Amino acid sequence: MPPRTSADIRQAYLDFFKAKGHAVISGASLVPENDPTVLFTTAGMHPLVPYLMGEKHPQGSRLTDVQLCVRTQDIDEVGDASHLTCFEMLGNWSLGDYFKKEAIEMSFEFLTKTLGIPLNMLAVTCFEGDKDAPKDEESAAIWKKCGIPEERIAFLPKKNNWWGPAGKTGPCGPDTEMFYWVGDGEPKGNPKTRDSEWMEIWNDVFMQYNKNEDGTFTPLKQQNVDTGMGLDRVAVVLQKVDSVYDTDAMKPIFEKVQSVSDDLSGKNAVRDIRIVVDHLKAATFMLAGGVLPSNVDRGYVLRRIIRRAIRAARKLGAIQAAGFCSGVATTVIDQYGDFYQHLSAQQSMIIETLNREEETFLKTLQDGMMHFQKVIAQLSGKEISGLDAFHLYDTYGFPIELTKEMAAEQTINVDEVGFLKAFELHQQKSRAGAEKKFSGGLADHSNETTKLHTATHLLNAALRKVLGDHVFQKGSNITAERLRFDFVHPAKMTSEQIKQVEDLVNDAIKADAPVSYRLMTVDEAKAAGAIGVFGDKYGEQVKVYSMGTFSKEICGGPHVAKTGMLGSFKIQKEESSSAGVRRIKAIVTGGPKEIEVAGETK
Ligand code: ALA
Repeated sequence: MPPRTSADIRQAYLDFFKAKGHAVISGASLVPENDPTVLFTTAGMHPLVPYLMGEKHPQGSRLTDVQLCVRTQDIDEVGDASHLTCFEMLGNWSLGDYFKKEAIEMSFEFLTKTLGIPLNMLAVTCFEGDKDAPKDEESAAIWKKCGIPEERIAFLPKKNNWWGPAGKTGPCGPDTEMFYWVGDGEPKGNPKTRDSEWMEIWNDVFMQYNKNEDGTFTPLKQQNVDTGMGLDRVAVVLQKVDSVYDTDAMKPIFEKVQSVSDDLSGKNAVRDIRIVVDHLKAATFMLAGGVLPSNVDRGYVLRRIIRRAIRAARKLGAIQAAGFCSGVATTVIDQYGDFYQHLSAQQSMIIETLNREEETFLKTLQDGMMHFQKVIAQLSGKEISGLDAFHLYDTYGFPIELTKEMAAEQTINVDEVGFLKAFELHQQKSRAGAEKKFSGGLADHSNETTKLHTATHLLNAALRKVLGDHVFQKGSNITAERLRFDFVHPAKMTSEQIKQVEDLVNDAIKADAPVSYRLMTVDEAKAAGAIGVFGDKYGEQVKVYSMGTFSKEICGGPHVAKTGMLGSFKIQKEESSSAGVRRIKAIVTGGPKEIEVAGETK
């Protein structure tokens, strides 16, 4: 019997590739660790980038996993039957091991034998060739040999049949994609001739090139295979349902939103419910992955999708009492918590954060809507000015997408370029203030505060090592007597964990590691793996302090020149600061009275 439920499909996939010699590895965090070119993990290959480039993977050259992905580039299509920003990707990889023949044969076997999909419901596409790589006749010939008839094989250009890099640079290559017939009646044509009637379900990428900074392609050290199958779409096929929202995993979330909706009469009601489902699922996974709502980078993506979900929910009359978002998130956790145990583990943090975010947004939304109507009423033409759009953003927290969406409903444009200009002007004004923010709350620059400031970095790094990468600075305050450090963590620390953190910091002090900084842009700092409050400063130089190999963090300084100058470190108190945020107070004692201040890296 072919698998049916989402859980069974996951398992069948992993079992199949395990039997073909693949090591089953864990999916990675949504916040990529091995690929600084993307904000979120958008495909199973991100955590594997170093290995696609030629590094040895500890578990061998054949790997398989399930990767939770977030892709915001398809956000406007969310609401149709098959697009999601948050989905599970089943993947198998060859790191310089097998190539086209085995990859395609395994895909074919899994689709037709394990999943039992009838051959006549399948079609494939291959790369048509251009100046960077030849037409992929080889893949087409392998498909034909498997039994795919010629009329179901289409050749398409780079836009369709080339995958990666996900960011600006990195591994990529031609791909061959597999499709399932979702049109009415008997299958007809192929994805080239009847695009909308064939749904892509799987992609085998032949990663053999690296895309360079200057746009050119060079062959990688090895020929890799990177595949990605959409679990939700395969569930649609096997469960014979109409959309990814009707599968066993997603339907209960859809029904939850539907059940609390007061007004389902709108012509876009189904689409709005789907947007709420998709976005709040994405938000739940992002929060569990350590992202918090903010006005920059990942945090801002998260904030935007939560706000977009709230807006769709309001149209449905679904928000009648506080805690709408967290109610939906609870259903998401019920549905996914068994497989993704970190969701259940962080349930209270997720719920509290969503409640706070919802409350804040709803407070300003009402005023913002009124202001928006006023702007519209006063328009002379058919365009909202950049300044007005910026005002909506700055005062009422309206992401530009929201303003655009609301404007579009009344066939009005928004001057986006003007918005960006106003945004940039505002950034420049706030820069002086931002420099202060980076100083980490340092009240004065005495020897004692400098020492405690350096200890704060070591503490931050140690907390991340002991508790995990979700630890993120929420605040820092230093007096001559003690440091105070607030950070994101859902639970009270155990005395064991406190001791471990203390020991790690003291080891780093004993190692007497050199401390120095380099000037770089925020992007470079991130690429170099620096942590820190990235603030809202783009393209601007920041100082990145390194303390041996123990810590690397964006900061204004100053710091001591060698960690040994701190003497010894002691945590005096660990307590709650606010929901999901812990507070540590700590001291250093016994270091030298006179210190040397860390300078620029030589
Ligand atoms: N990385 C490929 C994709 O995301 C498999 O489609």
